[in-house]
Amino acid sequence: MTASPAPEGQQPAEGRGDEAARPVLAEELFTRCRTAEAFSDRPVGDDVLHRLYDLLRLGPTSGNCSPARFAFLKTEEARQKIRPALSMGNVERAMAAPVLVVVGYDPLFFEKFGTLNPMPGLRDWFAADVGLGDETAFRNGTLQGAYLIMAARALGLAVRPMSGFDAVMVEEELFRKQGWRANFLVALGYPEGEVSSPRAPRLPHEEACLWL
Ligand SMILES: Cc1cc2nc3c(=O)[nH]c(=O)nc-3n(C[C@H](O)[C@H](O)[C@H](O)COP(=O)(O)O)c2cc1C
Repeated sequence: MTASPAPEGQQPAEGRGDEAARPVLAEELFTRCRTAEAFSDRPVGDDVLHRLYDLLRLGPTSGNCSPARFAFLKTEEARQKIRPALSMGNVERAMAAPVLVVVGYDPLFFEKFGTLNPMPGLRDWFAADVGLGDETAFRNGTLQGAYLIMAARALGLAVRPMSGFDAVMVEEELFRKQGWRANFLVALGYPEGEVSSPRAPRLPHEEACLWL
């Protein structure tokens, strides 16, 4: 995938993109890409990581609330900080990845509405209802984590998301000052070889979808 998207603000409206490119995009992002088993030694440059964030932040969130927060652990030293929090089965994969991303969210995301959505009363609406705020932060923060996964694939990176870790330990180690919550991890790097295990089956239409 070499074509770079139009600059921010100049993208075509949803549903009006380059129709000819779409089957290729779908094939690349969903059919061909697999969860990474290994990563190459090739480092992932800061420019690529910044591009990754520039892309994922454009994915839609409710009211443009954008609650996700990210820690990009680019060094061995940084990754060691959360090693004790990793489930045993995830230690090797997480530590071997060139970059380990902690996908988190800010429970006080509504404090950014002055920048993100200046609709009057919106900040106070969320500030007054902790349950609504938490649900909104988790839902949209998780979506933004998924945008990160797909944006990384679009940039030619391979990813392995991981939820096997102790979130409280990670929050204590990385997010204490900010008060952010840890949602899941994404190990990323350039792909190394083909994934050897066969793709696990997915649910057929009739079990997963209602067609009304
Ligand atoms: C939210 C989430 C959490 C996951 N947690 C782990 C994990 O803790 N350890 C792991 O090795 N893989 C983990 N995975 C990887 C999945 O098992 C894998 O992406 C899935 O089976 C699809 O594999 P495929 O892309 O090869 O079809 C996780 C994936 C997601 C999306």
